[in-house]
Amino acid sequence: MSSKNTFMLDGVAIEFSEGDTIMDAALRSGSYIPHLCHNPEFRPHGSCRVCVVNINGRQVSSCTQPASAGLEVDNSSEDLVQERRNLLQMLFVEGNHVCPGCEKSGACQLQAVAYYTGMLSPQYTHFFPQRSVDASHPDTAIDFNRCILCELCVRASRDVDHKDVFSISGRGIGSHLVVNSPSGKLGDSAFAATDKAAHVCPVGAILPKHRGYEQPIGSRLYDRSPISIVGDVAAHESDDQGDTHGR
Ligand code: SF4
Ligand code: FES
Repeated sequence: MSSKNTFMLDGVAIEFSEGDTIMDAALRSGSYIPHLCHNPEFRPHGSCRVCVVNINGRQVSSCTQPASAGLEVDNSSEDLVQERRNLLQMLFVEGNHVCPGCEKSGACQLQAVAYYTGMLSPQYTHFFPQRSVDASHPDTAIDFNRCILCELCVRASRDVDHKDVFSISGRGIGSHLVVNSPSGKLGDSAFAATDKAAHVCPVGAILPKHRGYEQPIGSRLYDRSPISIVGDVAAHESDDQGDTHGR
C-alpha cells in the first residue's frame, strides 16, 4: 500500500483512489462510517451530517470530503459520537417515528444507526408534526411521518427513473417531501413500484403494498447484526424485510 494513496481512519490505513471521498474509501475497505443520506449509487448529498468526522479538529461530512494522503480522520471519539447522537435525536423528534408500529422496524437505517451510536432516548421534545399518509397508488404507500428528507427518492426518480416524481419543498423546519403530480398524490404521478425510487428509502416512508410484515420481527436485517457489520439496507435487496423497501 503506497502512503501516497492512504489516509488514517481511527489509526487504520485506508487506501483510496483519485476522486474518492473519505466515505467512498472507508466503505470500500469495510470500515463503517454512520450515514443516512448517502448511498454509493448516487452522488453525495451532504444533508444529514450523520457521517461527520473530525480532521485536524475540524468537523466535515465524510460523504462529501475528498480523501487525501496523510489525513488523520477521527471517526469514533466520544465527542463525535455525541454529535451524531444529537443529530439522530433531532431526526427522531422532527418526525413521527413510532418504531413498534412501523413495518420497517429492524430493517430501518435510522433506527439501526441510532442503536449503533448508543442513542437511548430522543431527549428533545417531540414536535408531533401533522403529516399525512398517501395510499393513493395501487402498489406503494408513502407515510410522510417517517420521512427524514434524505432526498434519495428524489435523486433516484430524477437521475435513474428520469421521472422527477419527488421533490423537497419549503425551508428549514418547513421542509417536506412533495409528489409532483396534478393532485400531489402518488397515484396520480408517473411512479411505478419497479422504479428505483421505490427501493431507496432508508426508513419506512416508502413502502410496498400487498406484502406487509413478510419477515418476522426479531429476524430482520438489523435484528441479526448491527449496521456496522451488514451495511446499508441497499446492499441486501433480495434479502428480507430490509430489502423490500429500503435501498
Ligand atoms: Fe428519503 Fe424516504 Fe423521505 Fe424519500 S421518502 S426523502 S427516500 S426518507
Ligand atoms: Fe453524509 Fe448524510 S451521509 S451528510
